[in-house]
Amino acid sequence: MSLADRIRHPALLAKVMSAEDAAGLIPVGANVGMSGFTGAGYPKRVPQALADRLAALHAAGREDARISLWTGASTAPELDGALAKAHGIATRLPYQSDPTCRQQINAGEMLYLDMHLSHVPQFAWFGFLGKLDVAVVEVVGVLPDGRLIPSTSVGNNKTWLDQAERVILEVNLRQNPALEGIHDIYYGTAMPPYRQPIPLVHPGDRIGEPYLHCDPDKVAAVVVTDLPDRNSTFTPPDAASAQIAGHLIDFLQHEVKAGRLPRDLLPLQSGVGNIANAVLAGLDEGPFGNLTAYTEVLQDNMLAMLRSGKLTLASASALSLSPQAYREFEDHIAFYKERIVLRPQGISNHPELIRRLGVIAMNAMIEADIYGNVNSTHIMGSSIMNGIGGSGDFARNAFLSIFMAPSTAKGGAISCIVPMVSHHDHTEHDVEVIVTEQGLADLRGLAPTQRARLVIERCAHPAYRDALRDYFDRARRTAPGQHTPHVLDEALGWHTRYLRTGHM
Ligand code: COA
Repeated sequence: MSLADRIRHPALLAKVMSAEDAAGLIPVGANVGMSGFTGAGYPKRVPQALADRLAALHAAGREDARISLWTGASTAPELDGALAKAHGIATRLPYQSDPTCRQQINAGEMLYLDMHLSHVPQFAWFGFLGKLDVAVVEVVGVLPDGRLIPSTSVGNNKTWLDQAERVILEVNLRQNPALEGIHDIYYGTAMPPYRQPIPLVHPGDRIGEPYLHCDPDKVAAVVVTDLPDRNSTFTPPDAASAQIAGHLIDFLQHEVKAGRLPRDLLPLQSGVGNIANAVLAGLDEGPFGNLTAYTEVLQDNMLAMLRSGKLTLASASALSLSPQAYREFEDHIAFYKERIVLRPQGISNHPELIRRLGVIAMNAMIEADIYGNVNSTHIMGSSIMNGIGGSGDFARNAFLSIFMAPSTAKGGAISCIVPMVSHHDHTEHDVEVIVTEQGLADLRGLAPTQRARLVIERCAHPAYRDALRDYFDRARRTAPGQHTPHVLDEALGWHTRYLRTGHM
């Protein structure tokens, strides 16, 4: 396939230039919206060229040589990693998982706005984030009329292309042209008070069109890429993840028996990481069939479930697949295109749709407290790990909101069930079920003191259970009859002890 076959709009074909020249069009201090969501569909050459330019400016004494970087979600070393290493990011939003970004955020060198993913596009439209100067978006190709074939993720690309003053396109020849048709870009959004219901009532509904719109006159540069997505691999599920999956599947079976869930469950949302992937592996072998997914990221085991027929369709904003799973996807792309829809994150994570569809939300956490508050983002209260991502969009609006983690971390030195979480992402009001390898606590319909007993007995590691019982008993004596008893002097004492001694 020639370049002219990929870029079928002559005026845009004429704008092909080097990544270095394109990066030169991005002013220092600009707000830059880049494509990319969980390591998929991010620009691969312009960010590196921009990083080189910013690094050279730094070397020449320009300490202000930075941009503010907005994306869909996490990207990859060629984007977040390259720009962070060049000390080129002043402000970052809305989700990252890059080690250099993490280190700079926690050193106070990079400002980080950790936002709900569904809020990002509307905050941009509301003007809450300031003006978007430049969009840098990876696409698979350009149609003769200038519409764009999206890549392996959609994220915020529609918003960036609409909002940015100027646009740089990276046409990635490595991305399969047969991706054309898998996307569903909804152009029916509006600003309050003119919003209408979003006409999506089933996870597989197509309510938009397969292409992104972009005014060709705004396109300042087109860069050609031939590089794969990051495609990180998953480790096979460890024993704890498999046990967590087992507890969860037993619980879902119980819910079906009790008549609270249909036999084919409700649309599944599965978070990032190895535990989520292990749960999907368990579901693939489990008793349920005819399943659907309404989620933000499609990982390896969801693909396997589509292949096995357990899952009939999946809606997401990105394909985040290991190299092996991506090969499988490409080898059977026609099969998967009938079963996968990729949407903007404003739609994949929309509260209205999550609530309407009755999504079962399954997300990993860092720690939970005895009352069911959940921390998904911070280590020992102060250091960011990754970010809240879509977990809040789903947790608050789901039919069932489930959080999972091993009961301990760092070889047992840390209990992931604590008296009080050191950072709140999901309050007790948004958390219905907590699962560790020890067991599952179903918190529905329980008052705080009832929840505490269950969380301690079912989820805490035996090595920490007595200490948690002791804390709870003393809290009840200290604050007799009170609604959510705490010993305030001690509530975060487990964390301070860890910081002091290396053990909780
Ligand atoms: N205290 C301190 N550190 C902890 C901890 C705790 N209570 N629990 C886990 N950790 C550490 C682990 O030791 C590990 O550290 P390491 O990288 O130095 O080895 C790290 O945190 C990650 O833990 P891991 O067990 O590998 O978890 P994971 O890969 O399943 O990720 C989250 C867990 C919570 C970090 C991850 O799911 C996340 O970022 N979630 C927020 C976003 C989200 O939920 N998105 C879902 C919508 S798609």
